[in-house]
Amino acid sequence: MIKAIRGMRDILPPDTVRWQWVESVAREVFDLYGYREIRLPLLERTELFSRSIGEETDIVAKEMYTFPDRKGDSLTLRPEATASVLRAVLENRLEKDAGVKKLYTMGPMFRYERPQKGRFRQFYQINCEAYGVDAPELDVEVILLLLHILKRLLLGEMRLLINSLGCPECQVKFKAALGLFLINREGLCDDCLRRRTTNPLRVLDCKSVHCQEILHNAPVIKDYLCPDCAAHFARVQELLDRFNVAYEVQPRLVRGLDYYTRTAFEVVALGLGAQDAVAGGGRYNGLAKELGGPDLPAIGFAIGQDRLLEVLPQDLGADQQNRVFVAALGELARDRAFTLVEELRRKNLAGEMDFDGRSLKAQMTLADRLNATYVVILGDKELETGAAQVRPMRKIAAQGGGRSPAEQEQVPFEGLVEYLLKKINSDASNL
Ligand code: HAM
Repeated sequence: MIKAIRGMRDILPPDTVRWQWVESVAREVFDLYGYREIRLPLLERTELFSRSIGEETDIVAKEMYTFPDRKGDSLTLRPEATASVLRAVLENRLEKDAGVKKLYTMGPMFRYERPQKGRFRQFYQINCEAYGVDAPELDVEVILLLLHILKRLLLGEMRLLINSLGCPECQVKFKAALGLFLINREGLCDDCLRRRTTNPLRVLDCKSVHCQEILHNAPVIKDYLCPDCAAHFARVQELLDRFNVAYEVQPRLVRGLDYYTRTAFEVVALGLGAQDAVAGGGRYNGLAKELGGPDLPAIGFAIGQDRLLEVLPQDLGADQQNRVFVAALGELARDRAFTLVEELRRKNLAGEMDFDGRSLKAQMTLADRLNATYVVILGDKELETGAAQVRPMRKIAAQGGGRSPAEQEQVPFEGLVEYLLKKINSDASNL
């Protein structure tokens, strides 16, 4: 049997209900903050990612799904969305519109990483990107938006980590100091031995325990920020304080992508183990120019949807539909039921039936499994009398509370759909 590719999984019902719920909450919050959706291709030219994410990053050096197309052009399945959104903004001249340009997008990303808990080769992100303003207010607005989504989703304990990576001038000075510090250190991993000359910032992001130990006394970027960058970061913190946002300044937070300038942040959640970052982001003021566009300050974040769902409660976004199951006994009754089910759907009531001629008991079990609130029973007798039996299921009977539990009723075919609609509406208002 053919199986899915390692690190790529099927997301199955009923779990998909939780996924949809997360997406719909995120959409609502994006709308609240004035963001609009952009949908993008999953494939881009390889150069887009190698130029923006950085040749020395793990993502570009080791993790991209890159292949030549039939013409020999090198294409890559997107490992992230930031570069693609910016490509689309520049290509479609969206940056020309007045004010802050606010976009969001959701969908799968691809990274050839070693699969483990919370790490997949096809994973899903909810991305937010804003362009056109370097003001620290926008940084804080973006962080507040992220926290707003996470709180609406009832994410439990989380920590917000922030840092400033400065502007290119700060980074040049810091990289020189860090390079100097690393030059005589022994025991760096092979990657870091190379990176200490090519891009020492990447050493800070190395996962090797030994490299991390070496870094304990390394210089920190905070001490290399120019007055403008220091003031920008101070204002970000002041505004976060204003909204009583709890955060931790992490002087070694650099993130796994090279494009960041100034504010960088991550949200880590309790209960995720080693892969505990549920979201990450920051400013990338230099990227538009790097890609041949104008000077365009930008900031954004991505939520890792797979990881987020791992820590959200199981019973969120449960299927609230009121289902009516039509249990039919005998061929004639099944034929009548087939029409009834479609009549229900035309009135926006979810109707279901069985086509297999099961026993009444088996059909009742099926109705229960489908979470039906009412079962309409149709047999020879009902066809003869022209009235069906309508039986409220456990859920409705239980809602009776102090009142007497709802009982089975006989309802004429004519007006049956209206009767069910009325019942379901009054159940909803009694909740
Ligand atoms: P990132 O930190 O590479 O940032 O990814 C963001 C989030 O995606 C991570 O915090 C994690 O939750 C999730 N994620 C990453 N890799 C995997 C994986 N292999 N399996 C499961 N989840 C994963 C970015 O991608 C930037 N583009 C974020 C950004 C947007 N910066 C500015 N704008």
